[in-house]
Amino acid sequence: MEHGSVLIPGDGIGPEVTSASCRIIDSALLGSGSSINWIECHAGVAALERGHADLLPQETVETIQKVGVALKGPCTTPIGGGFSSVNVALRKTLDLYGAVRPVRSIEGVETRYQDVDLVVIRENTEGLYSGIENEIIPGVVTSLKVATEKASYRIAKFAFEYARSRGRKKVSVFHKANIMKKSDGLFIRCAQEIHEAEYQDIEYEELIIDAACMRLVQDPTRFDMLLCENFYGDVISDLCAGFVGGLGVTPGANFGEVNAVFEAVHGSAPDIAGKGVANPLAITMSGVMMLNHMSVRSGDPALKVAADRIKTGYNSAIREGDHTGDLGGTLGTEAFADALIRRLG
Ligand code: NAI
Repeated sequence: MEHGSVLIPGDGIGPEVTSASCRIIDSALLGSGSSINWIECHAGVAALERGHADLLPQETVETIQKVGVALKGPCTTPIGGGFSSVNVALRKTLDLYGAVRPVRSIEGVETRYQDVDLVVIRENTEGLYSGIENEIIPGVVTSLKVATEKASYRIAKFAFEYARSRGRKKVSVFHKANIMKKSDGLFIRCAQEIHEAEYQDIEYEELIIDAACMRLVQDPTRFDMLLCENFYGDVISDLCAGFVGGLGVTPGANFGEVNAVFEAVHGSAPDIAGKGVANPLAITMSGVMMLNHMSVRSGDPALKVAADRIKTGYNSAIREGDHTGDLGGTLGTEAFADALIRRLG
């Protein structure tokens, strides 16, 4: 069976890591009778360089809407002036409201923590990333934090559904409702109500985010699932990536009601772009999440088998010391992909 997936190489290290990860996915499917038809589309600076007028070309959005899934490399967003984030725009345009960022310790990656296994659920469409900023008078700027009942209920439901479907036991909401009484207050009220009404089998707690961060770094293993509004989720995802080896090993996915875009937590890493040294594992793990999603959606078990083969491949490659530079090793992007492919289960 052939399955379509949109491939967005992105900027910086994006083309290097997505190309390695597509090679890994194609190798894992080889001989299974199933394959992925990669439909290349562009976004970010790469889209402008290819003559598109927009950072997020309409054609890219429409192709994702038609196909339903995409594997996306990171897109650069300059700090300060210039264009707004293409990532934020893509999530809003496609209403990809639920970001899932699993964070798991990997045997063979040396870190300060063992046995970390948590999932960050981030609301992707509002909060401080509504992009509503105004200069009221010269020297005075406001940035609007938006919280709606609709988005807060649906992300809470999404988190509890995710917990139930994966056998997870506890959802911890990080908030600052003691200060942002209305916006964060609404967010936790919606989570409480959804929990009360439908998910009392799952443990639920609310933690003020500053103290929660301290508890998180003291012992990340006491956490199971974290539910955060947009900005907190962004920051907490990178913090959690640090528990298990960094951004090179932390995957992610953005889900809407209909479409899903799979991308690593990391950015375009301009400091190492073009050098062939970036770790392709995070985007490959996002690709594993994509294969599992597509397998459920299409009913094709070959995709799940390929996902499991890739997991076996990277777990044994990492365990046996095949590491890229970010993990203290010497392998480049393609050499790591080769090492993984040699060990596909
Ligand atoms: P970054 O994640 O690109 O880099 C942070 C550090 O982690 C750098 O030292 C980088 O070399 C390292 N790193 C990241 N991914 C790596 C990998 N796969 N292998 C080895 N090392 C890796 O974050 P930064 O520097 O804050 O952002 C750079 C650009 O990326 C910005 O324009 C930002 O807006 C954009 N960005 C895009 C995202 C997306 O498209 N989803 C997400 C985050 C940032």
